[in-house]
Amino acid sequence: MPGVKITDTTLRDGHQSLWATRMRIDDMLPIVEKLDRVGYHSLEVWGGATFDVCLRYLNEDPWERLRIIKSHVKRTPLQMLLRGQSLVGYQHYPDDVVEAFVTRMVENGIDIIRVFDALNDIRNMETAIKTGIKTGAHVQASVVYTVSPVHNTGHYLETAVRLEELGVNSICVKDMAGLLTPYQAYELISKLKEKIGLPVQLHSHYIGGLALATYLKAVEAGVDVIDTASVPLAFGASQPPVETVVRALQGTPYDTGLDMALLFEIAGYFEEVRKERGYERGVTRINDMRVFEHQVPGGMITNLVTQLEEQKSAHLLPQVLDEIPKVRRELGYPPLVTPTSQIVGTQAVLNVLLGERYKLVPGEVKAYFQGLYGKPPAPVDEAIARKVLAGKEPITCRPADLLEPKMQKAGNELQGLARSAEDVISYAVFPQITKNYLENKGIWGQAPDKKGSTNSPKEVHEMDLAQIKELIQIINQTDIAEFSLNSDGVQLAIRKAGSTRESTGHEDGEVEKNQGGVAPPAPPKAGSPKATEPGGTIIKSPMVGTFYRAPAPDAEPFVEVGTRVEKGQTLCIIEAMKLMNEIESEVSGTVVEILAENAQAVEYGQPLIVVQED
Ligand code: CO
Repeated sequence: MPGVKITDTTLRDGHQSLWATRMRIDDMLPIVEKLDRVGYHSLEVWGGATFDVCLRYLNEDPWERLRIIKSHVKRTPLQMLLRGQSLVGYQHYPDDVVEAFVTRMVENGIDIIRVFDALNDIRNMETAIKTGIKTGAHVQASVVYTVSPVHNTGHYLETAVRLEELGVNSICVKDMAGLLTPYQAYELISKLKEKIGLPVQLHSHYIGGLALATYLKAVEAGVDVIDTASVPLAFGASQPPVETVVRALQGTPYDTGLDMALLFEIAGYFEEVRKERGYERGVTRINDMRVFEHQVPGGMITNLVTQLEEQKSAHLLPQVLDEIPKVRRELGYPPLVTPTSQIVGTQAVLNVLLGERYKLVPGEVKAYFQGLYGKPPAPVDEAIARKVLAGKEPITCRPADLLEPKMQKAGNELQGLARSAEDVISYAVFPQITKNYLENKGIWGQAPDKKGSTNSPKEVHEMDLAQIKELIQIINQTDIAEFSLNSDGVQLAIRKAGSTRESTGHEDGEVEKNQGGVAPPAPPKAGSPKATEPGGTIIKSPMVGTFYRAPAPDAEPFVEVGTRVEKGQTLCIIEAMKLMNEIESEVSGTVVEILAENAQAVEYGQPLIVVQED
């Protein structure tokens, strides 16, 4: 009889959890055919954060990545993770965008769609599920697992039964924070297998150290498929290692039948890539074992640390981990998974960072209280809701019912830049970063052909790194603040830490790459001595982020020089930690100066706008 089947998550969740999603297509290409030979149930290679990171940081087209992987993977189904009505983004999209996205991704090579909603609100999954079924793909619906006073086995069973009624092909228990304990897993999986007639898959994270034991009990309870990663990208915030799971099940009725030697060959490859890239192995820290108190999932701790480091406040992590359960309770116990993990996490970071709770409330948190992400599992804190909503009434309908169709508009706005229907979809999901990508598309944007082009991404990348290191050394010995260079069609703009940065591609804050021919970055303007102009109140950036003058790329700016503003009126937006934070005027008066460029990266405390008080 066939044993337990295994999904490999190395190319999606593995690096999303441990490498901040930074694995590139050229890291995957040399190994992807070997992965195809293992005999996995599926390879999870797309969706989640990979789409955003491809465009935003890696200068890679996510659609092209998918097509390239598909061209090499002949036997194993390709799987992706979809955040329901939020697709691969952080907000809900109109139905026409969801339909276009799901249809095109299946056309480009996705075989299995794993759909979830952060709140287990089925209304937010329906359009994606129905479209997925229409395409003929395998649609797997997830039940997001968490621990709270309102989440019990009954809730999960009820959700799973309703998903089965929608006609999905399988059910996934998605335990993104590694909270499912072995004996709870046994109970939950047994009951699911009893109650529904579909295959059940378990997705857990090693994080606190329980997942291997949880998998074994789930296997005994009859789980059909489990998720693992290759050992260099396993453990810690990622999945349990495939090698251990295969070994543990050998010689039992659950034997996976996978070839251990081949698995270690693959592990050897990823270990080399890991060392080259300087990423740490997954480890379980004491904070991770306390996951039952703070419930912060896999990728989220990595993100929190990065966010706090960006804000030069890494030492505040323990306070933030204490604040998270409070914010979560006030928000009605949402499971912490994208986008609710960002919503709760960022509000907790802001509460700690600014020293006053809910002093700054990102637009997404306001939208959450308005019901625009769906129905919170439990009632929200009334006093905080009143403060945040400031008189607005929460909605009760399906959030996407309030959204206007967007595809046509996206197509019109991207005319001249779009190369394909996929570009328009990318734009509908991430307007600003897709535009930046298409305008600054570098050499990584062009995939190497199957025979390998003369300028393979890897070679150019290595050449860059050597050049970059040398240049940084030279520049650090001078008092030059900014330097640019054109070499082989690659433009490098280097600025010393502390000087102004552009809004994209600055993973390390020092180096940017643009294709030759693109105008050099604008000279730094913000933070100029003008900010100390007498009489005016200087509105400063409360955090490191990107400055936006308008609520959307095509919208009117909030204010111009000369605009009359009231205290509390929105002046601009700082996008930080993936959320839009409206910055309000601290005084009533007239805007006399705007000191930052639209879409420019700004530092903590950087002057943004001067308001002359009445
Ligand atoms: Co996961």
